Amino acid sequence: MTYSAPEFLVYPELQSTNTELKNLLAKNKLAEYSVIVTPHQTAGRGQVGNVWESELNKNLTFSLLLRPTFLAPHLQFYISKLVSMAIIETIKQIANIEAKIKWPNDIYINDKKAAGILIENSILGTKLDYSVVGIGLNVNQEIFISDAPNPISLWQLTNEHYNLEKLLERLLENIEHAYHQLEVNRLSLINNEYHNSLYRISGYHWFEDNKGKFEACIDHINEMGLLTLVDKEGQKREYAFKELKFVIND
Ligand code: BTN
Repeated sequence: MTYSAPEFLVYPELQSTNTELKNLLAKNKLAEYSVIVTPHQTAGRGQVGNVWESELNKNLTFSLLLRPTFLAPHLQFYISKLVSMAIIETIKQIANIEAKIKWPNDIYINDKKAAGILIENSILGTKLDYSVVGIGLNVNQEIFISDAPNPISLWQLTNEHYNLEKLLERLLENIEHAYHQLEVNRLSLINNEYHNSLYRISGYHWFEDNKGKFEACIDHINEMGLLTLVDKEGQKREYAFKELKFVIND
């Protein structure tokens, strides 16, 4: 399978591929699967207003337009699930490394972050209208200078340089394949695979919420993307995004 985007827009430099894709959407009717990519993203946006560091020509920084109009808004976390699964599949295929999905939007290798995902959805009436899927994958960068927590690149793990075009093409194919599973409603397949790919899925680990640190294990993540932990007293605790931190050096 070869990925063929209706629009494949390559810019020598951009502040943020997500912002640019949303600007274009406001002006044009862009087709689903359109892609914006740049080798030089100067003000990449991360979760919770963070910046995303990416050195010129070293990494993948791109945004993909999906139009999941078949999906009810309360199920929008499925987009994050399938994109996360496609990223770890791609890392396995290209670099032979087992990456994991750190809920809700990070891709981890061991205890370090190799990729981040910023999904910006728009709802129209009772359906999702579009989804801008922004992905930053650390590939050939040798040194990280920002205070981003725990960054790591594929180069740092394997000492190999990777062809960014091939990597992008494979990743887009894998996303398209996973998205198709969602379109045809293979929800339990997606949920099982997602569950098995989670960072810290087995055993007790340290977490931190607004009351402090505690040990717990992951129970499950529901369809809306809420995470349930079970603490050492057997109590279930449910969290939305940003309500919980994973304590990394436990
Ligand atoms: C995070 O982990 O905080 C999410 C990082 C997402 C970064 C990507 S890079 C391409 C796209 N454009 C952006 O401005 N952000 C996303």
